Amino acid sequence: MRVFILRVVSLLALASSSLGVKLYTAPDQLSTKEYDFIIAGGGTAGCVLASRLSENPDVSVLLVEAGGDHREVFNSIVPFLAGNLVNSAVDWNLTTVPQPGFADRSILFQRGHVLGGSSSVNYMAYNRASNDFYNSWAKGIGDDRWSWKSLEPFYKRHHKLAEPADGHDCSDQVVRDAHGDGPVEVSVLNYPVPIDDMVMRVSGEMGGRFSWNQDINAGDSLGFTYTQSSIGNGKRSSSATAYLDPLFESNRKNLDILINTHVTKLVQAGTSKGKPEFKTVELAQPKPGQLLTPDDDSTAGTTDDGKRYKFHAKKEVILSTGVIGTPKILQLSGIGPKDVLQKLDIETIVEIPDVGKNLTDHPMSVMYWNINQESQFDTLLRDPAQFAAQIQHWQETHKGIMAGGVSGTQSYMRLPESHPIFAEISDPSSGPHSGHTELLFGEGMIPITNIPMPDSGNYVYALAVLTSPTSRGDMQISSSDTFAAPKINPNYLATEFDRAAMVQAMRDTFTFLSHEAFKNYIDAPYGSLVNLTTDEELLKYTADHGVTINHGIGTAKMSPYGAEWGVVDPDLKVKEVIGVRVVDASVFVSYDSIDFTKPVLGWVDGLLTRW
Ligand SMILES: Cc1cc2nc3c(=O)[nH]c(=O)nc-3n(C[C@H](O)[C@H](O)[C@H](O)COP(=O)(O)OP(=O)(O)OC[C@H]3O[C@@H](n4cnc5c(N)ncnc54)[C@H](O)[C@@H]3O)c2cc1C
Ligand SMILES: *[C@@H]1O[C@H](CO)[C@@H](O)[C@H](O)[C@H]1NC(C)=O
Ligand SMILES: *[C@@H]1O[C@H](CO)[C@@H](O)[C@H](O)[C@H]1NC(C)=O
Ligand SMILES: *[C@@H]1O[C@H](CO)[C@@H](O)[C@H](O)[C@H]1NC(C)=O
Repeated sequence: MRVFILRVVSLLALASSSLGVKLYTAPDQLSTKEYDFIIAGGGTAGCVLASRLSENPDVSVLLVEAGGDHREVFNSIVPFLAGNLVNSAVDWNLTTVPQPGFADRSILFQRGHVLGGSSSVNYMAYNRASNDFYNSWAKGIGDDRWSWKSLEPFYKRHHKLAEPADGHDCSDQVVRDAHGDGPVEVSVLNYPVPIDDMVMRVSGEMGGRFSWNQDINAGDSLGFTYTQSSIGNGKRSSSATAYLDPLFESNRKNLDILINTHVTKLVQAGTSKGKPEFKTVELAQPKPGQLLTPDDDSTAGTTDDGKRYKFHAKKEVILSTGVIGTPKILQLSGIGPKDVLQKLDIETIVEIPDVGKNLTDHPMSVMYWNINQESQFDTLLRDPAQFAAQIQHWQETHKGIMAGGVSGTQSYMRLPESHPIFAEISDPSSGPHSGHTELLFGEGMIPITNIPMPDSGNYVYALAVLTSPTSRGDMQISSSDTFAAPKINPNYLATEFDRAAMVQAMRDTFTFLSHEAFKNYIDAPYGSLVNLTTDEELLKYTADHGVTINHGIGTAKMSPYGAEWGVVDPDLKVKEVIGVRVVDASVFVSYDSIDFTKPVLGWVDGLLTRW
């Protein structure tokens, strides 16, 4: 009898596991070592690629992800809990090298380590770049396939508007025509709070540089708007939920997903057309729970059991390992700047100096104001019983404060045309419809900087972000050990323009929040902010408390065919190499401002129609 029950149970297990795409947790569970496409990195771009490439039943695809299954991560699913994902099992736990622009502090450089990648851990603001951004990109690359007009259909194809969790009518908060019918769900104001409508009202009254814009995703990205968030039915909508989840219940047989496994490097296997061919990937699994060894030779290797596996791609290897992971794999494979590789005794097989260079990121100043009415957010964070009740409410209804994203409103702004900095430097933005800075507003003292949270009081926050930085940094591997942490140097606020624009963003925040309409709501700036007046004082505040809004790009930059600079050509193929493409945010040409999740999705979907 007992044997019989066990049999039934195991048959059931077999039956359910044979339906749909499966997750494998170790390389030796796979029945083949050869696929048409091998995608490194199951992140924002990687999940879209895996899903769309395997739509063709004649093509076999392997997706390899270092992190685990997104479906088990509660803090990723519940929008309000995104902040808890820092330094967790789904974070790479990276930090920058000390930043002179940030008072020599090393800061967190968060990246998703899970299926869905950074789209499983980000703050869900759904922003396309402006039309100027794409058009200047297309022009710079000399390839019209990257223009706004060429890419717009793919934005519509990858997402659709979802109704807000609280059920309100959002017709006048978006432009419906700018949205499509794809799988990523996008919504506005899932849990409205008083400051949201106040911000939009004041914007309407102030006009000019503070103008109101019904939908910043419709081409012109300037102005104040209700934030669109990748949230549907009160849950995070990521590239994994949108593009992979449906496959777990489908009949698709030609896609294998391998998790908890690192691509350690690409291996050259011969040459083709006189160029080295890199269609073999090497895989390894670190011991769980201790991913990156400190940057210190004495402990390097402790996470490594030494076992390596080789898999072969018949058609192509696609790197979708992100702004740090992609240049890291290229450098470990001997594709990169000779000086960096030589120091680590790695043979330079293909010298591409820009691999890891031109890292560009958006620094952010976090500011708080006291308000004279209750902020639900602050109350909630101080009261565990209320917090638990809200979690339960979310579990039962997928509604309430837990269903809401971070800022209800945001804006992109340009520096005044008369700003004295333009006497010294020409406009670094991609055009008149692109912002130099971004402001975001919300309720409560969100704990995202080093300012300790007080035990009492009610607050709103404002985030002042530099979105057209001229500073460039880099990333370099620190060891030939694949599990060692790389050196990440975003070089925040290193130029005069960047400092001037950051100061302008902070001053704009003060100007905006001192509008009459906020009089009965906002009291005074919190903490040391109250006494800041000079540019130097504002910059000192940012240096002491600044963080990143996590928009790193540019480390495997696209450039025209045959260009001396850059890493990939306009088809995303790695220059001077056969068999490798990069499809992720590391290829971005860093003109200016944007949140980068959705642009990646748009481009990936666009790219596939040309493959
Ligand atoms: C905390 C945070 C908040 C953000 N907020 C927003 C926002 O509100 N709105 C917005 O639009 N953008 C936001 N961003 C930026 C946006 O999420 C990223 O730009 C975008 O997701 C990058 O996509 P990607 O495909 O290039 O890389 P990722 O999505 O990071 O994917 C890379 C994947 O590769 C995997 N990987 C890396 N190395 C290896 C390896 N060696 N082997 C196997 N797998 C590997 C990683 O684990 C990851 O899954 C935020 C980012 C973060 C981190
Ligand atoms: C990141 O750090 C946390 C806390 O130390 C740890 O629990 C987690 O496993 C680490 N993440 C990875 C991917 O190693
Ligand atoms: C990228 O970085 C390299 C080296 O720092 C530099 O020479 C090059 O001009 C940069 N390219 C771009 C487009 O920023
Ligand atoms: C601001 O300045 C006033 C007057 O100099 C001083 O009394 C107060 O302590 C300062 N506040 C903060 C938070 O630095």
